[in-house]
Amino acid sequence: MLPYGRQSIDEDDVDAVASVLRSDWLTTGPAVDAFEKAVGEAAGGHRAVSATSGTAALHIAYSALRLGPGDQVVTTPMTFVATASCASILGAEVVFADVEEDTALLDPSAVDMAVNERTRVVAAVDYAGHPADYDALQPIADRVGALTLDDAAHSIGGSYRGRPVGSLADISTLSFFPTKNLTTAEGGAAVFRDPDLAKRAHEFHFIGLMRDAERFELTDEGPWHQEVHEFGLNYRLTDVACALGLSQLRRLEQFKQRRAEITARYNEALATVAGLRTPTQREDVDPAWHLYPVRVLDGRRREVFEKMRERGIGVQVNYIPVYWHPVYARAGYRRGMCPNAEAFYAEQLSLPLFPDLTDAQVDQVIETLSEIVG
Ligand SMILES: Cc1ncc(COP(=O)(O)O)c(C=O)c1O
Repeated sequence: MLPYGRQSIDEDDVDAVASVLRSDWLTTGPAVDAFEKAVGEAAGGHRAVSATSGTAALHIAYSALRLGPGDQVVTTPMTFVATASCASILGAEVVFADVEEDTALLDPSAVDMAVNERTRVVAAVDYAGHPADYDALQPIADRVGALTLDDAAHSIGGSYRGRPVGSLADISTLSFFPTKNLTTAEGGAAVFRDPDLAKRAHEFHFIGLMRDAERFELTDEGPWHQEVHEFGLNYRLTDVACALGLSQLRRLEQFKQRRAEITARYNEALATVAGLRTPTQREDVDPAWHLYPVRVLDGRRREVFEKMRERGIGVQVNYIPVYWHPVYARAGYRRGMCPNAEAFYAEQLSLPLFPDLTDAQVDQVIETLSEIVG
């Protein structure tokens, strides 16, 4: 089965990991520092805190904000559940605002109507690798004293109006899962414009341990001393993973270019196929295409999904609207509240997209899909 996403690992990646395995530091060592610096630079020069997954990065980000009961997060339903559930698990209320009909990105006009004085975060998602409209979202968040968060699990390497992903919102979170734009196996990072928030995030991901002598409350314990002021978890990424990530980062631009080439090949071939609708790209963005979300019209998505799988092409559907998950449905979220997201979900199909996909494989996907739909 041709997968819909796959890592691209070369000998440099293997050597980078092997050299860490031969070194003194398997975790919390120099590769972690170097990777965090490199991610921060790629993200426009802000501080990055690495984490064990993109989900952990979201939990870290919301925890650093001390999000809790009484607070609201306004977000998109067209995302992986973690964008919302990491806020829900802290006791915050998640409010789903609808997406734009064409891009499936959080719609600023829907956000404008959803925010109020309890809104602490407006969390957008750069769905499929296409950045959301941050210049429209930020003033809405500012108006109510909230922060913007870019769940950039799909989009590292891309840019919006010349600014790199990672610098588009007050906080950005990344995922380095194998299908993503670069990988550390499991892994992620949270990037912060505000250095104080970054520091709190770092402590949270380090079990809450703090080693800042000027802030100690127990002042004469000794040189070994570290203390906890707020609870945290162990979300530390290892040196083994970070060495892989550093090596992968060197090829991020190359990965992005190949993903763009494949996207263009799909667009050109599929734009004229009746019964399909190709993805929209806004003029002011340079996406790092993570998914190729084609839309299958006329109620045929499920049939096409099953036939593609039968023919060895591992298509996927991204995503069920988050509030359809039983955990949200049981909490009273009703179907119908975000019609654009639901209409998009009914048609969406992710075609294989990863850097090592050959042109011949892309053509095979195009032919198979055209035959099934035609
Ligand atoms: C939009 C989005 N947010 C968050 C995540 C969570 O990332 P991870 O799988 O690394 O926990 C994912 C991964 O699937 C994602 O696609």
